[in-house]
Amino acid sequence: MFFRISNLVVHYNKVAALRGISLQLEQGDIVTLIGANGAGKSTTLRTISGLSRPTSGEIWFEGERIDGVPAERLVGRGIAHVPEGRRVFPDLTVLENLHTGAYLRKDKDRIARDLDEVYAYFPRLAERRQQLAKTLSGGEQQMLAMGRALMSRPKLLLLDEPSLGLSPVMVKEIARIVMAINERGVPVILVEQNAEVALRLARYGYVLETGTVALEGPASELHEHDHVRAAYLGGH
Ligand SMILES: Nc1ncnc2c1ncn2[C@@H]1O[C@H](COP(=O)(O)OP(=O)(O)O)[C@@H](O)[C@H]1O
Ligand SMILES: [Mg+2]
Repeated sequence: MFFRISNLVVHYNKVAALRGISLQLEQGDIVTLIGANGAGKSTTLRTISGLSRPTSGEIWFEGERIDGVPAERLVGRGIAHVPEGRRVFPDLTVLENLHTGAYLRKDKDRIARDLDEVYAYFPRLAERRQQLAKTLSGGEQQMLAMGRALMSRPKLLLLDEPSLGLSPVMVKEIARIVMAINERGVPVILVEQNAEVALRLARYGYVLETGTVALEGPASELHEHDHVRAAYLGGH
């Protein structure tokens, strides 16, 4: 198995945010975690990328245990995390922000090629390459945060609510790009409150409720599931 979490428990102080979740991902896969605010989606991604430490449970990546490995080392191992709230460096240009994504890389000759690839995914970033990041719209900043993650040549991409707060047009655009990135072979764990978008993009989904996996299955089946429809798809 390419990536697997088993029985992951995470506490903030004494309060459990994750109460024993398990999930898995195959090479090239795209899975989604959906769930209400506070369900534990961001905590799951933060623990995978080493920003939060698990109380118990295991995380396996490419045949090795990575729970407890520091975040800086996991970046080097190919785990790229685009956190909630699209954090970019506001006073750096688009190009400078993208270069920060490649800071650990030694293969300098390929960086220029990857930059071209990022600009192909996000033509708006190419047009704005010399602009300061703080002058970009919310959707463009999301693109920049994703582009920066791609500049690390990720083996696993963790996306936390990329569509949050964006216009419907921009949500569609981001969804199209997530799909394109995955089709080029990058495995993705997509966290979304927008279950409609997430279940359309993903192959498989997990529904998180108060720190546990309440339900899981192929995304197309979850999309038709009564509980999912009532609780996460506006009852349509
Ligand atoms: N830094 C933190 N300190 C204390 N509690 C936190 C912290 N971050 C999240 N929590 C709590 O952990 C639970 C899961 O939060 P989170 O993983 O952010 O959920 P989601 O991303 O699904 O909205 C919530 O009850 C939240 O209040
Ligand atoms: Mg969250």
